[in-house]
Formats: sequence, structure tokens, C-alpha cells
Amino acid sequence: MLDVESILSADRAHVWHPYTPMDEWRQHHAPLVVTRARGPHFELADGTELLDGNGSWWVSTLGHNHPRLVAALKAQIDRMCHVSLAGITHEPAALLARELAAVTPRGLDQVFYSDNGSTAIEAAVKMAVQFHAQTGKPKKTRFLALEGAFHGETIGATSLGGVTLFRQPFASVVFDCVHVPSPAGDDGSCAPMWGEAFDAVARVIEAEHESIAAMVVEPLVQGAAGMRMYPPAYLRAVRDLCTKHDVLLIVDEVFTGYGRLGTMWGCDLAEVVPDIMCVAKGYTGGVIPMAATVTSERVLAAFAGGRERAFLYGHSYCGNPLGAAVAREVLAIYREEGIVAGVAERAARIADFAHQLQLPIVRDARALGMIGAFELHDRSAGYTASIGWRVYREALARGAYLRPLGNVIYIAPALNIPLADLQRLLSIVEDSIRALG
Ligand SMILES: Cc1ncc(COP(=O)(O)O)c(C=O)c1O
Repeated sequence: MLDVESILSADRAHVWHPYTPMDEWRQHHAPLVVTRARGPHFELADGTELLDGNGSWWVSTLGHNHPRLVAALKAQIDRMCHVSLAGITHEPAALLARELAAVTPRGLDQVFYSDNGSTAIEAAVKMAVQFHAQTGKPKKTRFLALEGAFHGETIGATSLGGVTLFRQPFASVVFDCVHVPSPAGDDGSCAPMWGEAFDAVARVIEAEHESIAAMVVEPLVQGAAGMRMYPPAYLRAVRDLCTKHDVLLIVDEVFTGYGRLGTMWGCDLAEVVPDIMCVAKGYTGGVIPMAATVTSERVLAAFAGGRERAFLYGHSYCGNPLGAAVAREVLAIYREEGIVAGVAERAARIADFAHQLQLPIVRDARALGMIGAFELHDRSAGYTASIGWRVYREALARGAYLRPLGNVIYIAPALNIPLADLQRLLSIVEDSIRALG
């Protein structure tokens, strides 16, 4: 018999939770004790089943514990859990790189492995700086990113981050990154006019390109900023601008990749090929952490010519066989079960729902692919707004886990969520928002 009380007391005494005000939390709240996770649901210790509205921070693109992924992991565990990639290769890492290269945008066929979305970004940042240093432009060391950007937790990724609240505590230690206006617009909706945002970035790149190594963007959706969406035309225009001024374009597909927007990659919607692409989260379907930074032979070529010119970077778990075996199986499931094609019908349901949701409390409802976002009116808009947590509690009582982003309620469920479960999730969103009056 599971002793829920001793789990909670150990947690309360020792676990420091992410993005959590621990003092308030320990005094007034208790975490949900989850005992099982299957498909679009997870189950609490008391037997309550909850629909996972955000696929566990967007990783669970194929549903929890997909039987094929679990089987691939078990089979690999029996053969080999880990060896380093230092002068060594193995079947999972080698074949995964080939299979990934087959589905990434044209020309992106060189795969550098790491552990999670943040390290995929960290590798891209270092790659960009070293690339320019070794192609005769050592002054190109600064970065451009969007206001509201989120690229992860390491200091490099934090430096790129454009959410003031997350960046502020580390302002004294982050590196030089120019944050340009987001094409998504202040109200979080898909701004009809992205031209002003483009003019702003064009002014910076034209004036300062000699010191700029790369521009880093989340393609079409700024996730952590509150699911802010922007048009493909902006990304296309940025691609041309970067090419013209020898600024590398790094596209962060950690959230948008693996079909989230209805195409394999977010940048496919803009028909843009970046210089460097970062993938994580759905890459291993929420089973085990792993990531990749994918680039071209042109970028790799800058690292030729001697040991000191090698890319001086590598994590202990680079190319981990368990992660790689799971990531290969993810790609096999995508191929064999038509996961990306299956998004269209579900995406249409989410979009229809967002368009018909007309409530005075909803400031903006928007959708793209397997994302639906509902921005509520609130005086204290932003990540710390409490209104979203009121909806969260209403949703829990109705059978869904809908962790908000401040005043933005959103869903980003598994891509293969059964239609009936999706319909139920959307109904819970509506009822939970309505319950606020
Ligand atoms: C766009 C984007 N990039 C990077 C990251 C960081 O990924 P991880 O949490 O795996 O380090 C996230 C995390 O949410 C993200 O949304």
C-alpha cells in the first residue's frame, strides 16, 4: 500500500521544486502525487485520473509510456546503458544521427548530441562563436534574440532569454545579447503587422553585424512567453537578413519541433532552413532526457584543421545509448503511425474551439497546430498573474492538469491524443474558465 503521507513529508522536507516559491508552497500547498502515467493521462495516488494538458512540459508528444518507447528502452538497457562518445560510437547514436538527418531541413545533417533543450542551445551558442572565430571573424561574439524569448536554463540560454522575470536575477552574469521587439505583438496574439518588428531587427543587424554571431529564435511560437504566435513571413525575412550579413540563424525547435505546429519542424511552415537547429523534448517522447544540435557541413568545416580547432564541447552523456534508442523509436513511430499527418484533424478541433470561445474574461484565444492558448484579462498580466492558477484549480476538479503561464491558459497535449480525450480536454478548459464568472 502506497504511503502517500511519507512521500509528501519527504518532499516537503527535501525537494526544491522548479519555478516554485518554496516558502509559500510548503506552507499552503501539497504537490500532486502521481503514481502512473499512460497515454494522455496520469493517475494520482488516490486513483484520480487527470488529462495531461501540457504533455508534461511539452515532452510527451506520443503520450506517456508509449509501449513501443518503453520496449525500446528496455531492450537497450539489457545491451548497454552508456559509454562515452569519446573515440567510440555505437549503433543507437550512429543510426539515430542518420535517421535524424533524413528528416531535418535540407543540408542539416551533422548531429551534435547533448542532454536537454538548454544544453542543445548552449552547444549552438558555443558553435556559433567558435565558427566565426575560425572563419576570420573573431569579433562576431554577440547574439540577437526576441523579447519574450525562452531558450532554457543554463547561463548561455538565460543570456538569450527575453522574459524579464526569468532573466532579472542573473542580469549581472549573462552575456551580451540584444533583445529585439517580438513580431508576436504585446497582446500575445498573432500580430497582423510584423513589419515594425522586422525593421527593428534589420536596423540592429545592418548597423552591428560585424559583432553579431547569431540570431536565435523560437519559430512561430514563443512558448514560455505565453504561447505568443507570429507569422512565417517574419522568419523568412529574418533568414534573408541573416544570410546577407553572415549572421548564423539558430532555430530553437525544442518545443515547436516534432510536429507540434502541424509540420515536422516549425521552420518548415516558413520554408526556412536555419544554420543550426536545436531539438529536445519530443525528440525522446518524454521517456528519457536527450537532445541534439543539428547543423550543416559548412558549419562543421570551420572546425577542421587541428586539435585546437575542434569543437571543444562535450557532455558525459553525449549520445547516450538509452536516449538514442528511444529517439530512434520515436522517429519510427512518427514514420509508421503518420503522427504529423494526424495533427491536422486535432489541430482543426483546437482552432475551431479557440475561434468560438467568446467569453468576456478571455482577452485573446489563439491556436496553431497542437497548441491552444487562452489569454485572460487580468490586471497583473504576465507570468506571476494569479488568475491562471484559479483556472488550474477548477480544471483539477474537473479532471485535467492545466498548468498556466501566468494569465495564459493553454493546452499542448500529446500529438496522438484520442479525439474523445481532446474534446474532453477542451470542454474542461471552457468550463474551468467559465467557472471564474
Ligand atoms: C523553446 C525552448 N527552448 C529550450 C528549452 C529548454 O529545454 P530543457 O528544459 O529541456 O532544458 C525550453 C524549455 O521549455 C523551451 O521551451
